[in-house]
Amino acid sequence: MKNVLIIYWSHDGRTARISRRICEVIEAEGHKATMMHVMEAEREGVDLDSYDIILLGCAIRYGEFNKQFVNFVNKNKAKLDAKPNSMFNITAIARNPEKATVAGNVYARKFMENNPWKPHEMKCFAGKVDYPNCGPVDGFLIRLIMMMTKGPTDKHSVNDFTNWDDVEAYARHCLTLA
Ligand SMILES: Cc1cc2nc3c(=O)[nH]c(=O)nc-3n(C[C@H](O)[C@H](O)[C@H](O)COP(=O)(O)O)c2cc1C
Repeated sequence: MKNVLIIYWSHDGRTARISRRICEVIEAEGHKATMMHVMEAEREGVDLDSYDIILLGCAIRYGEFNKQFVNFVNKNKAKLDAKPNSMFNITAIARNPEKATVAGNVYARKFMENNPWKPHEMKCFAGKVDYPNCGPVDGFLIRLIMMMTKGPTDKHSVNDFTNWDDVEAYARHCLTLA
């Protein structure tokens, strides 16, 4: 039985939901999966050595990976490098297939090029843009981002871009890493 840890950061819940689906698939395959918000890992502590596979998931907001997430992976570089690992990022742009690859996804590419800790592999998933639940400033700015990338801009719309079959396939793939 493999013991898998997912450390994630999520602002609006979609990365958490994707992490939970990955856990469900891993458990359905007969393995153990634990998901932990990066804040919990930072403040309460986590024994990275005790897991067989470590997955790291982070959403993008305003073009950036969350700083606490980035600090965590860099601070724990040696322990993460010592384990089979994979990172997934969640963006709106990955709704376009060419932006769902590391080469085509600017955030994934820059992370792999510039970040001190680099995952063994990176996966890009499309997230969710839920205009009614965005505040006025976030709503305005994400509509601008969507306008520039030719996405939906109806401020009453809830846009679910995640391909759940792809999420499930990724979870099964991650089990093959160890
Ligand atoms: C305020 C805001 C800013 C965002 N900025 C970006 C961005 O710069 N690029 C992008 O591709 N997606 C962007 N998104 C889309 C998010 O990545 C997407 O909504 C994702 O599902 C959020 O994950 P979370 O629910 O785990 O926080 C943004 C979303 C919001 C609400």
